[in-house]
Amino acid sequence: MQLITVITLFASLTVSYAAIVRGRVPCPDGHQTGDVLYLPNCVRFKCRSTDYIYESCGTLGYDITTCYYVKTNATANYPECCNAKFYCLGDADFDPAYLDYPAQ
Ligand SMILES: *[C@@H]1O[C@H](CO)[C@@H](O)[C@H](O)[C@H]1NC(C)=O
Repeated sequence: MQLITVITLFASLTVSYAAIVRGRVPCPDGHQTGDVLYLPNCVRFKCRSTDYIYESCGTLGYDITTCYYVKTNATANYPECCNAKFYCLGDADFDPAYLDYPAQ
């Protein structure tokens, strides 16, 4: 198994991020090469001829005491469901009520 995290900054405050878990063929549950499934929690499964992969959002490193993020469309399929907008202390539209771990 391999875990790869990719972070793409495509606007100043909007990020897309991904984690990939890869396994060896045969694909689980009898899936065949070319099968693609969209699973709960923003996961996409792909069965390929040489391996199978689960792709999802991965984790983001940021200061949880001064920033939070809001997913731009959590109900979309992967990868759109990973898209998030960050808000940090000092931003005009920052709302401290959204901070999970506000600094005391
Ligand atoms: C979220 O994604 C779904 C599926 O692609 C789409 O139908 C819906 O319109 C999107 N919502 C917004 C607010 O973009």
